Amino acid sequence: MTLGLATTDRYRVRYDEVSPLRQALDIEPVLAMVPSSARDLLDVGCGTGDLLERAAARLRGLKRLVGIDLSDERVAIARTKLAAKPVRSEFHAADLRVGTPPVGTFDCILMTSVLHWLHPVEAEVFRAIGRHAKPKGVFILSTYHPLITDSGLGGTDDVVHAALLHLGWSRDEAAAFFDRPDALPISKRTRSKREIKDALSPNFEIDCVVDRNAAMCVNSADQYLKYHSATFGGYYSGRLDVDTREAFFDALGEEAMTRMAERGHVTEMPVRIWRTVNAQDKRIDVV
Ligand SMILES: C[S@@+](CC[C@H](N)C(=O)[O-])C[C@H]1O[C@@H](n2cnc3c(N)ncnc32)[C@H](O)[C@@H]1O
Repeated sequence: MTLGLATTDRYRVRYDEVSPLRQALDIEPVLAMVPSSARDLLDVGCGTGDLLERAAARLRGLKRLVGIDLSDERVAIARTKLAAKPVRSEFHAADLRVGTPPVGTFDCILMTSVLHWLHPVEAEVFRAIGRHAKPKGVFILSTYHPLITDSGLGGTDDVVHAALLHLGWSRDEAAAFFDRPDALPISKRTRSKREIKDALSPNFEIDCVVDRNAAMCVNSADQYLKYHSATFGGYYSGRLDVDTREAFFDALGEEAMTRMAERGHVTEMPVRIWRTVNAQDKRIDVV
């Protein structure tokens, strides 16, 4: 299974070659919130396993690591990365929207940079994740909250919107590109903080949150296009004619470098890290 990587091969790279530009910046703040008593760790949407690899190096009490991801390719990379570590690890390719494999229960569950891909079934996924939390188990997740600009979009959607205008699309055509039920702007796929809190609440109690701003910066158009391809696959470019994709990528690269020159970053992305605790043991089921 893949995220539908219908993208130009020119920029196809491994996810972990470009995640240091953005997603991997969340690893340390997330690991700092993992209880030092944790013995087992589950990472849902584990990508190529960098978070678990760093956890294995940093949290010496860990005995078992488990990763789940939609992509067979990323699961295979993660499995290879962790194979040499002195802690037991296992990886499963599975779609969290459908359910979780029977991996047991954990002291700590992590989910970084994944929630926007789980729209609109986040609450169901949280329920499934809740079944893998031990009593007093902790669930830590990171969510993105792009600022909405004049285009009515934010984050990468806004960069894509500008690239479509560079291609000569009208504003109405560019708006229509995002106005499809099967292709929501990523900013709309990310629920508000209030909605996330409500979706978590049947299973998890919020323990603490850390908010920070994570600007995404690149040193060349090529670097941005590699990041974009590995992160978004064909989510945007797959909606374009094959003949238009190369020009679209050129326009995206140009827009990214214009933003670097004018603003010092390509996107500005407020990130929230939530640490939550299994709430099940506090509830009494009344029938
Ligand atoms: C932006 S990457 C984040 C990877 C890793 N957690 C990190 O922080 O670097 C999003 C990951 O979520 C995975 N993903 C997306 N939809 C998924 C789904 N429905 N079920 C399982 N994994 C999914 C993707 O394959 C991808 O590896």
